[in-house]
Amino acid sequence: MRAHMLAAVEAAPGLDALDAVRVDALGKQGRITQLLKTLGGMTPEQRLVEGPRIQGLREAVTTAIATRKAALEDAALNARLAAETLDMTLPVDATPAGTVHPVSQVMDELAEIFADLGFAVATGPEIETDWHNFSALNIPETHPARAMHDTFYLAGVEPGGDERTVKRVLRTHTSPVQIRTMTSQAPPIRIIAPGRTYRSDSDATHTPMFHQVEGLVIDRGITMGHLKWTLETFLKAFFERDDIVLRLRPSYFPFTEPSAEVDVGYTVVKGKRVIGGSGDDTDGGWMEVLGSGMVHPKVIAACGLDPAEWQGFAFGCGIDRLAMLKYGIDDLRAFFDGDIRWLKHYGFAS
Ligand code: PHE
Repeated sequence: MRAHMLAAVEAAPGLDALDAVRVDALGKQGRITQLLKTLGGMTPEQRLVEGPRIQGLREAVTTAIATRKAALEDAALNARLAAETLDMTLPVDATPAGTVHPVSQVMDELAEIFADLGFAVATGPEIETDWHNFSALNIPETHPARAMHDTFYLAGVEPGGDERTVKRVLRTHTSPVQIRTMTSQAPPIRIIAPGRTYRSDSDATHTPMFHQVEGLVIDRGITMGHLKWTLETFLKAFFERDDIVLRLRPSYFPFTEPSAEVDVGYTVVKGKRVIGGSGDDTDGGWMEVLGSGMVHPKVIAACGLDPAEWQGFAFGCGIDRLAMLKYGIDDLRAFFDGDIRWLKHYGFAS
C-alpha cells in the first residue's frame, strides 16, 4: 500500500490530480484515515506494532504530497514565466497621443514674440491677496469687480494681521503680477505675465477660469507712443500679418491713466472674421482685444517707486480669445473638453 500510494503521488500530473490522491489517502474517508480508525479495536500488543507503522505511512505520504506539490507549483511558475516573456522588439500599438493645447501654444508664442522685444516672463500666484489684486492697483472698495458675484473670495481668513497677507482671492486678472514685479525688482522693468485668472462667470463666451497675459514696462520717459508701437509689433507678429490696424479708444481702468481699450480691425472671409485690414473697410469691423494704459502714479507709489522718476505702460489681454481668433475656434468651452478629435481638427494633434 505504501509503495502504491507514494507512486501515485509521484505520478500526479498536476495540482488537481495530486489533491485527488491526497483525499483518497488522507481525507475523511481516506484509506490511511480508515486504517488509523482500526487502531481503536486492537489489543495493546497489536497497537504497539501497527500504531507506528500506520503513523509512519501517514507521515511519509504527507511529506511526499508536500514535496510533489512544491515541484508542481515550481513547474507551473516556470511555464508561466516562459510563456510571458516580453518581446521588446515588437512595435507598440499606435494609441492617439495628445499634444500641446492651443492655449499653451499661444502662451509659448507670446513668450517668444516678447522675448524678441526684450521682455522677460514673470509669474505670480493664482491665489492672491486682496491687496495685490485690488488695493495696490488703486481699485476702490466700491469697485464692481470686488463684488462677490465677480470674485471668488477664499474663506478662513484670520482677522487682523498684515493687509498684504490676509484676505485672499482667486486673482481676477494678471495685473497683480505688475505689483509683485515692481515690489521685487528694480526698474527698468519689461515683463509679460501669462497665466490663469478667475471670475464668477460662465456662458458661451465666459468660463470661470480663463487666461490672460499682462504686459508691463517701467522706465524713464515712457510714453503712450511706446505702448502703441509695442502692441502693434506684437499683434503683427502674433497674427503673422503686416496689415494689422489698431484703434485705441479712451477707456477707464483704476490702475492706468490715461487708459485705452485696443481694437483690432478684421475683415470677413468666407463668413468668418479674420484679423487684418482696417475695420472701416466694407465688410470689416473692429474687435476689442485688450485693455491698456499708462501705469497710474498711485500704483507706482504703492510699490515704493517714485512716480516722478518712473513711468510706464501696462496692458492686459485675454489669451483664450487670442487663440480663438488666430486659429478660427468658435466655442470657448471646447478648450476644456480635452477631446483629442477637437485638437486634431484645429491641427494641434496628429
Ligand atoms: N486687468 C485688466 C482686465 O482684466 C486689463 C488691463 C491690464 C488694463 C493692464 C490696463 C492695463 O480687464
